[in-house]
Amino acid sequence: MKNFERTLVTCALPYANGPVHIGHLAGVYVPADIYVRYLRMRGKDVLYVCGSDEHGVPITIKAKKEGCTPQDIVDRYHKIIKDSFSGLGINFDIYSRTSSDTHAKNASEFFRKLYDEGKFVEKESEQYFDVEANTFLADRYIVGTCPKCGAQGAYGDQCEKCGSTLSPDELIDPKSALSGSKPVKKKTKHWYLPLDKYEPWLKEWILDGHKEWRTNVYGQCKSWLDGGLQPRAVSRDLEWGVPVPVEGAEGKVLYVWFDAPIGYISNTMELLPDSWEKWWKSDDTKLVHFIGKDNIVFHCIVFPSMLKAYGDYILPDNVPANEFLNLEGDKISTSRGWAVWLQDYLKDFPGQEDVLRYVLCANAPETKDNDFSWKDFQARNNSELVAIFGNFVNRAAVLTHKYFDGKVPADARPERIDEETLAQILPIKASMEHFLENYKFREALKEAMNIARIGNKYLTDTEPWKVAKTDMERTASILNVSLQICADLAIAFEPFLPFSAEKLRKILNVGICAGKDYRAGENGVSSDNLYKAGDGAALHTCISNEGYETVLSWEDLGKKSILPEGHRLSAAELLFSKIEDDVIDAQISRLEEIRRKMEASAASVAAAAPQKAECSFEDFEKMDIRTATVKEAERVPKTDKLLKLTIDTGLDIRTIVSGIAEYYSPEDMLGKQICILANLAPRKIRGIESKGMILMARQQDGKMRFITPQEVLSNGSEIG
Ligand code: MF3
Ligand code: ZN
Repeated sequence: MKNFERTLVTCALPYANGPVHIGHLAGVYVPADIYVRYLRMRGKDVLYVCGSDEHGVPITIKAKKEGCTPQDIVDRYHKIIKDSFSGLGINFDIYSRTSSDTHAKNASEFFRKLYDEGKFVEKESEQYFDVEANTFLADRYIVGTCPKCGAQGAYGDQCEKCGSTLSPDELIDPKSALSGSKPVKKKTKHWYLPLDKYEPWLKEWILDGHKEWRTNVYGQCKSWLDGGLQPRAVSRDLEWGVPVPVEGAEGKVLYVWFDAPIGYISNTMELLPDSWEKWWKSDDTKLVHFIGKDNIVFHCIVFPSMLKAYGDYILPDNVPANEFLNLEGDKISTSRGWAVWLQDYLKDFPGQEDVLRYVLCANAPETKDNDFSWKDFQARNNSELVAIFGNFVNRAAVLTHKYFDGKVPADARPERIDEETLAQILPIKASMEHFLENYKFREALKEAMNIARIGNKYLTDTEPWKVAKTDMERTASILNVSLQICADLAIAFEPFLPFSAEKLRKILNVGICAGKDYRAGENGVSSDNLYKAGDGAALHTCISNEGYETVLSWEDLGKKSILPEGHRLSAAELLFSKIEDDVIDAQISRLEEIRRKMEASAASVAAAAPQKAECSFEDFEKMDIRTATVKEAERVPKTDKLLKLTIDTGLDIRTIVSGIAEYYSPEDMLGKQICILANLAPRKIRGIESKGMILMARQQDGKMRFITPQEVLSNGSEIG
């Protein structure tokens, strides 16, 4: 294994067209945050980079829908996303945006270098064009039927139903998402990155060189590479984006998937204008991309090829992509509102940030898709965090205050069980390190939780509250051991549950080394307290914790006497609190409400009668549809269904026999304005000559309603 000097951790830049939900968190941000916190505790030099992805068609479509500018959209969501991340304790070293000047310059320069060096292929091709909207239809501007699964509403770049990557040409029955019209083909010029040329190199680098990557990641790469790579367009005919920096490229911008990953570099530059290259261009930097599975091809194949084409950039050492998290058994969907939004969670569960972090890690979709359910959330809080972790810490702290005045008692009378108990913790440290360094965060968390289980069992076995009645010396030993385990917990949980670990440190009255992303001026930390990152950019990494006599570090985990005899604790407080049924029920009913809406709209799509065969405009023009008013109405004798209506059509007064008696009485119809097909060939119904037809809408439940103009019109108005 290579020895790296520093680690550069990136998280997929979220699209600034909606808030962040639990699927994003479980897939990308919670694991990345755990990883970064862990490395910092180990004293590693880490840079943690993210930002908003502010280009791309979904953003312009949303802006159009809301009647505002794309900039308005990204300004709104950039702030929401940024704030909600920090609310969950996810504090990047930089969270910038791809609409920044630094990025525009950098992405442009990146393109230009590849362009100048002839790394692109320039190609003219026919692409879909919306004549009405006068624009090319890139990516999500075009929708149609998925050629792979037959789902309707697949996008020009992807089918959300089956997850296939698509190109506009593959769509069956393509339509413009802008005007709904049928697009035409029009010639246009674009630049392509010839991925096929990088294929041999990619095969060697990934398939031979990175067999240690997760099976899901390696497998996706292998299937792309086995399938053969095609040149990929890196420009688009759009207005929103980084302009293509080439003469004659007016109206063209960089493809969002070309500019966004460069955003990782731009954001590093923005933070460290003088030393960013060390993070991106030195071989002893370990680059790790945290992403969701839908981003694998871009981070393992496209972006590395771009970096390789550029020349002197390092490549990712690993790309620990997660699978998807479902919500209550259904795929999370931003557009349908089927999600739990981070900003809502933070509002609904103040002070319980760690519960979400815990559940999302314990249940992380590391190897397969997983499900989030509110019942599971409640159970994990109540029976794991509260009943095991919180309960143990609380018993140890309360008993110490009760019997020993809040001071760590002497290990006055050790017994074998003490040693046996503590001996179980050192191996946990080793296995946590193994799991964390190999991106197995669920397993690592399980190990940390085992420390709490060990503590709980120890208290149950030794029963200090009983021993205290007869033997204070032995009680002292038991609580000494218990408090050491509490300190172990404070160390082991810092990467996972930073808020609770901090609370626990407060109870134990200890500091921690390298625990957090402290910066000068924030959290009351002065720059003197900061361990300076190698390049002198006063970043963070280790605080001296002045004021604390005892400072914990990762290396203490599993050691014998972390807390010295006589060390004074602060007041006990509860680490976690029980979540009651009504709180969970409220969340569940909110989702049920959304589910009802989703089902209603799915049913309406399903129940609508299929479209009839195409008719020509001439066919349509033959029909003479007009407004008319009902003058008289009566039942046709001996029938249930028929009404005989006398109609003023503006042309004449005539009789129409209509099968609407099931739905309307003669009185209902009297005086109503309706629409009729006036030139339907006359026919005799029950001996009455009927001239024309009343237009009715048949609803999904089979009931018919007549069609009436929104306001009263003159009779005989032509409809068409
Ligand atoms: N915005 C993309 C998504 O949410 C991720 C972009 S990652 C980057 O799927 F590398 F391109 F920045
Ligand atoms: Zn599909």
